[in-house]
Amino acid sequence: MKATRVCLWLHAFSTVVVLVGAFDPITTSVVIGIGAALSRSIYNYLHESCDQKWVAFNSTGLEEDLGNKLFGQHLASHIIAKAVSGFMNNANPKKPLVLSLHGWTGTGKNFASVLIAENIYKKGMDSNFVHVFTAELHFPHAGQMDTYKTQLQQWIKGNVSACAHSMFIFDEMDKMHPGLIDSIKPYLDYYDKVDGVSYRKAIFIFLSNAGGESIVQTALDFWNAGRSREEIELKDVETSLALSVFNNKRSGLWHTSLIDKNLVDFFVPFLPLEYKHVVQCAKAAMSAQGLEPDAVVADKVARELLYFPKSERVFSVKGCKTIDSKWEYYA
Ligand SMILES: *[C@@H]1O[C@H](CO)[C@@H](O)[C@H](O)[C@H]1NC(C)=O
Ligand SMILES: *[C@@H]1O[C@H](CO)[C@@H](O)[C@H](O)[C@H]1NC(C)=O
Repeated sequence: MKATRVCLWLHAFSTVVVLVGAFDPITTSVVIGIGAALSRSIYNYLHESCDQKWVAFNSTGLEEDLGNKLFGQHLASHIIAKAVSGFMNNANPKKPLVLSLHGWTGTGKNFASVLIAENIYKKGMDSNFVHVFTAELHFPHAGQMDTYKTQLQQWIKGNVSACAHSMFIFDEMDKMHPGLIDSIKPYLDYYDKVDGVSYRKAIFIFLSNAGGESIVQTALDFWNAGRSREEIELKDVETSLALSVFNNKRSGLWHTSLIDKNLVDFFVPFLPLEYKHVVQCAKAAMSAQGLEPDAVVADKVARELLYFPKSERVFSVKGCKTIDSKWEYYA
């Protein structure tokens, strides 16, 4: 919209230039000169470039967003804030930042990556420097794996060459062909350069459900022991997470090779969400549409969801997934 308006404005401007030109050639060239300079700066203003104006990390913003918008994830919020701030504030990182986000569906893994993107890139997820890959969408046919590998490597190389601070999000990592993961390993490592390109300022984020069960089990153990979920520390989930990820046949392959080489900098666990978090999600969805959050509606939405385990009904089966579209039905 903004761009259209400026274009119209520029068009009007050039009409004036033409009119002025009818009278005085000197004034005309001055006006045209100013006009050209103006449109250049307007182009720079609207067109995303890989510089401070478009790529600038806001550490306070990220911390606040994680604290206020990502519900029920004290561990993930803490780890992500620390990891991303440490990395972005380091002028000379030794390797790209590699985060592996784990947890049950609907717990906020995608949303957390959105918050990271929004606090690094002015255009957030719409930035040309943020790339999302989904196994089923981008690499659906096992038979074409060789083509995909070459393509993915070229994309990563091309994009990092254009902007060192590029971000790559791999959704549903457990569904990625292990060969594909292998093909990106060189970019995640401590190399100074690969084929003349340095990948050290890039960010890679892997999303997966792998290890989700073990995180749920830990959360349930705390709940059964009457302990608050906020007491759960990284060490409480870390061991079981690593074990279950190693032992999972589907995710085992890629994880083993990434873990063996210490290419993943942080494993980030996402806890299963409870009733009260679903209520928070529903209220946030209403706010996002510019409405006053309605507690009664939020409660109705949360009550309609399924919870597990069957007897205790503690955690939402789908977390906060589909809440964005669901609340309107109950309003
Ligand atoms: C960083 O984020 C904070 C909190 O959202 C905001 O108030 C501030 O204006 C942001 N800073 C910049 C430079 O955008
Ligand atoms: C950057 O990645 C996108 C995929 O997200 C791809 O379409 C594009 O060709 C890549 N750019 C370069 C210069 O390789």
